[in-house]
Amino acid sequence: MDIDALLKQMTLDEKIDQLMQLAAFLFDGASHEGEITGPLSDLGISSQTIHNSGSVLGGSGAAEIKRIQEAHLTTNRLNIPLLIMADIIHGYKTIFPHNLALSCSFDPELVEETARIAAKEAAVSGIHVTFAPMVDLVRDPRWGRVMESTGEDPYLNSELARAFVRGFQGQDIQTSKDSVAACVKHFAAYGAIEAGRDYNTVNMSERELREVYLPGYKAALDENAQMVMTAFNTIDGKPCSGNKALMRNLLRDEWGFNGVVISDWGSIRELIPHGVAENEKEAAALAIEAGVDIEMMTSTYVSHLKELIKEGTIEESRIDESVRRILKLKQTLGLFENPYRFLDEDKAKDVIFSEEHRLVARRAAEESIVLLENDGILPINKGDDVGLIGPFAESQDLLGPWSWIGDKNDVETLAMGIKKVFSKPISISSIQSVHAIEQEELVSAIEVAKKVDTVILALGESSDMSGEGGSRSKIDLPEIQLELLKKIHEVNNNIVVVLINGRPLDLTHVTPFAKAIVEAWFPGSSGGTAIARILSGDKNPSAKLTMSFPDTVGQIPVYYNHHNTGRPLDHNNPHNRYVSKFIDGPNMPRYPFGYGLSYSSFEYSELELSQSVLRDSKTLYVSVKVKNTKERSGDEIVQLYTRDHVGEVVRPLKELKAFKKIHLESEESKTVTFAVTEEMLRYTHSDLTCYTDPGEFTVFVGTSSANTIEASFKYQIESEEK
Ligand code: GLC
Repeated sequence: MDIDALLKQMTLDEKIDQLMQLAAFLFDGASHEGEITGPLSDLGISSQTIHNSGSVLGGSGAAEIKRIQEAHLTTNRLNIPLLIMADIIHGYKTIFPHNLALSCSFDPELVEETARIAAKEAAVSGIHVTFAPMVDLVRDPRWGRVMESTGEDPYLNSELARAFVRGFQGQDIQTSKDSVAACVKHFAAYGAIEAGRDYNTVNMSERELREVYLPGYKAALDENAQMVMTAFNTIDGKPCSGNKALMRNLLRDEWGFNGVVISDWGSIRELIPHGVAENEKEAAALAIEAGVDIEMMTSTYVSHLKELIKEGTIEESRIDESVRRILKLKQTLGLFENPYRFLDEDKAKDVIFSEEHRLVARRAAEESIVLLENDGILPINKGDDVGLIGPFAESQDLLGPWSWIGDKNDVETLAMGIKKVFSKPISISSIQSVHAIEQEELVSAIEVAKKVDTVILALGESSDMSGEGGSRSKIDLPEIQLELLKKIHEVNNNIVVVLINGRPLDLTHVTPFAKAIVEAWFPGSSGGTAIARILSGDKNPSAKLTMSFPDTVGQIPVYYNHHNTGRPLDHNNPHNRYVSKFIDGPNMPRYPFGYGLSYSSFEYSELELSQSVLRDSKTLYVSVKVKNTKERSGDEIVQLYTRDHVGEVVRPLKELKAFKKIHLESEESKTVTFAVTEEMLRYTHSDLTCYTDPGEFTVFVGTSSANTIEASFKYQIESEEK
């Protein structure tokens, strides 16, 4: 297809209509014979605009999408196919653990595998683009959308962003079968909203933005993600969807991204309540100038761009460049040759939610479940009398808030999993609500607790307490669940708490009453069996936290890669008042980044560096011996951090630079070796350039960010060597 020739054939109206995206229900329900009712009339959109629009949001199932595309192609004058886009965040029909859970596997290959399966199921259903990966770095668990993120570390965020894009797009988006184009979001720094309150202000220096928050987006684009979605928030006082410095100067000019940018939902029209646009016309002008190509779900472009061009406020060339990008994406996806791409209703029946996919979902959940506490009560002996109690004992609410096509009725509940894994019958006492408990439910729960050896207490957040619009000012478990825990503890203190939730929680009132705590997140379609296999020891837990669990909500933000300050707390002199600390609680989170227990135990020793000085063109090799000192084999995620002691700006006390997951049989030792290069040590200076200063570094290797052994080295620039 000759894009420029096609562009020349398009009228101005047709070009502007290409920039609009509406939800599928407006297409499939809307009559193409001109009678537009309901939401469309509210949007002031003509049926002609529908015939000319460039893309559709959503559309569930191959049949509906085929119908929409067919209807569109019969009405679109130039036979330009629709782009079909949707939110496939952590699975299509087979739902995997959400991203914050998956990230705890520290396993980019596994992440890629889950995205590959999601892409296969979506592509065969007719989806062309997924609004994923979400790579917003997060430090505030009050925000509901931390569940979509991959945590608080820029390096891990970047590695997993790449893995998601490879999984969705395959090796080459143009030729990879069963692939969907990736749309990285939300550009930028949506995860840094003040107070974790959704859609709130983001305030930070450009240096911090580049150092901490931008690497994930850049990594996704370096992996050839085809699209970018703008964020709702402001940066430096300007909402992203109208922020020319961010969207055109940085994203397009500096990074060289010439793909399609789409607004997040109504974020173009939201420039008005943000207070940077008087009206929709001004909002449209700001956004098109910033380089936002597609307007999702609002109609400022189709309502005002033509007038803005006629009055000379906007050059028509701005419209042409956006339309060209959209047509180029359709060409890249082969839609002009085949508007249905990989849509295949028959194949869908075999591919979607297959046994093979559900097994991967189970494995992904097993690799994502973090063992937070265990006094030895776990693993549970399969011959024990086990009671399963609580709001998540038989709940199907295990998919999380971004599971769209995923069906709760397909979920393997915890009770189903335990029955499958534990041969002996179990006693179950379900609580129907996460927020309330009936008297008879409480009586039944106590009765079960009295008669069994071990209680599995399944507690947590319902999915509507997490996700978009799910910010919480307190991050405790609901009060009635804490009451239930205490009452159970009065009759049986052999309690294993299993958490189903989408964010780090304040577990102050849980740890005193639980002999073990298992963080299972929203574990996905096969979550019940995965949790049961961890509880029984059939699977030895290996996951590690990628977001700190605060000791209390008052600590927030608390994260591992923090600065030292001029008055660091000296743990050997904790009573010194005039240091950076709280007088009513600890500085350290309850569970730090990189933390997670195992049924094995791993001992680190013999940390050795290949040399004490790293010169800029050389590589420093760091080796460490890791031994499994327990009788059970297990996997360990070995983590390598560095510290740059003196910088041109203050530097974090620790920064994750590498990780390796190894398997060790009982009493087995392995030597793990990492390569450290100068490039890995670079950071953003105050002039926004990125390089490494000569000087003292420490390398830390260990089982969590708070449990490492260390050694020092110097970095020298060869030309400056004495
Ligand atoms: C939502 C979300 C975004 C999603 C979009 C389309 O508001 O912020 O992540 O992709 O709308 O559903």
